[in-house]
Amino acid sequence: MDKTSEKPKSFCTRLCQGKLCIPLIAVTVLAGIAVALTTVLTSSSVRERFPPDLKWWQKSIVYQIYPRSFQDSDGDGVGDLPGIISRLDYFTYLNVKALWISPFYPSPMRDFGYDTTSHVEVDPLFGNLFDFDNLLREAHKRDIRVIIDFVAGYTSSDHPWFKKSEQRIEPYAGYYVWAAGKTLDNGTTVPPSNWISSFGYSAWTWSKTRQEYFYHSFTPSQPQVNYRCTELREEMKNIIRFWLERGVDGMRVDAIAYMMVSDQYYEDQKPSNKSGTQWWQLAYWIPSLTQNVPDIGLVVKEWGEVLDSYDDSDSDTDHSKFMVVELYDPPKIRNRYYAYGADMPFNFDLIVTMNPVYHTYCDAICIRDVIQEEYDTLPDGKWANFVLSNHDNKRASSRLGSLYTDALIVLLLTLRGTPTTYYGEEIGMEDIVVSFAETRDPWGINYGPDHYQEVSRDPARSPMQWNSSSNAGFTEATKPWLPLHPNFRTINVETEKNSTEMATIKLYRDLAILREEPSLQYGLLTFGDVTPSILFYLRSAQDNPDYLVIINFGNMTLTHDFSGPPVSKAQGRVKVATSAAVNEKRFYLNSAVTLSSVTLNPGDGLVIELQH
Ligand code: NOJ
Ligand code: MG
Repeated sequence: MDKTSEKPKSFCTRLCQGKLCIPLIAVTVLAGIAVALTTVLTSSSVRERFPPDLKWWQKSIVYQIYPRSFQDSDGDGVGDLPGIISRLDYFTYLNVKALWISPFYPSPMRDFGYDTTSHVEVDPLFGNLFDFDNLLREAHKRDIRVIIDFVAGYTSSDHPWFKKSEQRIEPYAGYYVWAAGKTLDNGTTVPPSNWISSFGYSAWTWSKTRQEYFYHSFTPSQPQVNYRCTELREEMKNIIRFWLERGVDGMRVDAIAYMMVSDQYYEDQKPSNKSGTQWWQLAYWIPSLTQNVPDIGLVVKEWGEVLDSYDDSDSDTDHSKFMVVELYDPPKIRNRYYAYGADMPFNFDLIVTMNPVYHTYCDAICIRDVIQEEYDTLPDGKWANFVLSNHDNKRASSRLGSLYTDALIVLLLTLRGTPTTYYGEEIGMEDIVVSFAETRDPWGINYGPDHYQEVSRDPARSPMQWNSSSNAGFTEATKPWLPLHPNFRTINVETEKNSTEMATIKLYRDLAILREEPSLQYGLLTFGDVTPSILFYLRSAQDNPDYLVIINFGNMTLTHDFSGPPVSKAQGRVKVATSAAVNEKRFYLNSAVTLSSVTLNPGDGLVIELQH
């Protein structure tokens, strides 16, 4: 037979004949499936480790800008969007690649922008939509992502929707949470239930126009919208689409826990019996009817779907849209929001626990436990995050004292998970002192002259300290909207950057760069034998140098042996050290250190590279 005329044989016919053929095919196919499966499984687990497929929001630090206080461009004493644009190169210097901008929407500013009269415009105080687009373009040019603050739970009482809702004009009549009052035996009308606002006193306010009560989780000028109303729900999704169309990279959802309340408006909350609280404070009650009600999950899921529909990432570009939700609850509650579809719920445990101002002292063991709890409770495949400060709390360096400013930065930027930095934290800004007369925060004002300091957020919102010139380079106005911290002549960006010595901003930048190393970016975190003063942990990713992080959170100089497990090394190299440790020449960057005996002053922190 002419070989050339031979019919090409199939794979099967070449390998088997007759009866054997079928079992052989089966074996081959099965083996093939097994090999393919093994390859898929191994490669995906390998991909998870070397390196894992991280999104931009898992790799970058998120930097919070409170726009009123960041940079004023027009001399009115209030920061604005053009001001932020003029400072974008600052983030390139810091190696920060994601910004969250607190609200800049039109607002009567009774809660400084968290009371909007429109979700799709810019307040003239901050600029206009053209400025926003410009900001986004300029940020993207620098490879910086921008997320907006989605104030989705309430509007200003000046919002046209609310005005129409009060007048029962359709479709707005049901846009807010309305209820008739309860009539007592003596004929008087009182609010439907004992629900208390977060800022104190009843959460129900009477509308003369509608002759009904409306619910507000915060000030009476922030009526709660009603997610049980389909039209409202759609409006909110369209708002998300509006910003996504403009190119934003995601959103921080404001006050998610309060997004919906129970529809049992007449049911009272039960007392919490929490000591030191009074009936007019939220903490006096168990807020089961007004916080984290399960229906919120459906709303978050819908938002997640909208965000996902704008994600056109492929293997070369990451256009994923990020959703982080704001709530102060412990892991058991906040972790539900992962399942609902958020990329992460803010983890404020380091704010809540490291807070001597609120009489909770958290030593190094407690810090370790708080961190470990985040990792232990994370749902499978989800990503951790940590926050030390924000516009609603005392600054971390004021809570712990300036001795620990640098140490806190070392901590935040070396943990596994996304860190969020509050503006000014990177230079060591501290809280200002504000008298009651000067108090602008509605929460502080509501608590009155005797209690305002317990809750007022003005101290943490002072103008950014750029340089040592008058008003710290923040504004050309004679008076900024809140006073500057008197320490601005030494604690400011320019002075610290130009210093011949180590300074907080340089430490921050060094860490922001170093945390791109695989071990710090996604490597596992293993705690050593932590004492009440000394926190230490190892960050390690296979085939990469490990990093040992050591911080003295105590108030005494201590010498410690770090050479045992989990380190098991005699020597390392100092990659980052807090300012005093470097300036007092106790440690030298890039020099070897003997791990069996390391002496640390209070507030010292080191990141040590360990070669395999
Ligand atoms: C949460 C915001 O973070 C806070 O600043 C604001 O006061 C409340 N929402 C109420 O609007
Ligand atoms: Mg301005």
